[in-house]
Amino acid sequence: MRRVLSGIQPSGALHIGNYFGMMQKMIRYQEEEDLFAFIANYHAMTSVSDGKTLALGTLDAAVSFLALGLDPDKATFWVQSDVPEVQELTWVLSSITPMGLLERCHSYKDKVTKGISPNHGLFAYPVLMAADILLFQSDAVPVGRDQKQHLEVTRDLAEKFNHQYGPTFTVPESEIDDDLALIPGTDGQKMSKSYGNTIDIFTSRKVLKKAVMSIVTDAAAIEDPKDPDKCNLFTLAKLFLDTAGEAELRQRYLAGGLKYSDVKKELLEQVWTTFEPHREKREELLARPDDVRDILAAGALKARAAAAETLATVREKVGIAYR
Ligand code: ADP
Ligand code: TRP
Repeated sequence: MRRVLSGIQPSGALHIGNYFGMMQKMIRYQEEEDLFAFIANYHAMTSVSDGKTLALGTLDAAVSFLALGLDPDKATFWVQSDVPEVQELTWVLSSITPMGLLERCHSYKDKVTKGISPNHGLFAYPVLMAADILLFQSDAVPVGRDQKQHLEVTRDLAEKFNHQYGPTFTVPESEIDDDLALIPGTDGQKMSKSYGNTIDIFTSRKVLKKAVMSIVTDAAAIEDPKDPDKCNLFTLAKLFLDTAGEAELRQRYLAGGLKYSDVKKELLEQVWTTFEPHREKREELLARPDDVRDILAAGALKARAAAAETLATVREKVGIAYR
């Protein structure tokens, strides 16, 4: 059984890019792997500057993950800041992290270009992420393509530490599913909370409809045959279809006579009904926040036990445990 770990930032409403890119896969893994899943609230501090928003967002992300099917009896599920060991490991790793390695990170450069303040937390983000992964001796990390470089940084740091201090960390593999690695938003760019182009999982029917209807398509006439592989709407629609459904929709594109607005209406129904049971579960969980807090506290205890083992070895090796 492999240890599979991933985290998600509580930095805004979850969208179908998050779901298909990472969460769905995680939830499936809990059946056959040793799944570790957490809410990365320290990471979210790099983009959320209001304390109340972050605190509420953290609980909301936890509730959403549980509502989508994460089972705390099968997986270890916690909030990052409930395992403070991760901060100590971050410092240890920082001390072996070459500046150049972080300077090359696209995610940092992209975020600064988008107007996020270039502070030290944002720059050191990949080191905290490496600590998240290495602290738990993870074998595999399922993420979307945007996180690939961060996984490479993690592997580099694990190898460097192992070389310098002797074998300590498992060197993790990233797991990026080509089909799902980059789900487009309503405007055709990567779907992202920070681009305002999302289709959110838990939202009102009205907002969902507005998002789906705003999906950008080309200006082909109804009677024209259309190329599904160049169509953003098709890429989104097929996420909700089985093989036969996808083949049928492909045929309608190629045959001509297809109205994009019909496909959008069908997609709206699909999104709405797919998440219907999860919406109900979410409402149920929101009504008992104390139970959610208990689940997270129990998860943190499990995670801390695993973290303590790694950290004791690390402290010994680097000479922090001096007595
Ligand atoms: P966002 O870009 O909306 O802020 P996050 O950075 O919180 O999303 O991403 C959480 C997880 O969801 C990560 O594993 C990320 O790779 C994945 N993810 C986010 N957006 C997409 C997307 N458009 N397609 C595929 N995976 C995505
Ligand atoms: N950086 C990731 C994201 O934005 C979230 C994250 C934090 C993460 N720590 C992690 C993902 C460790 C995988 C493993 O999506």
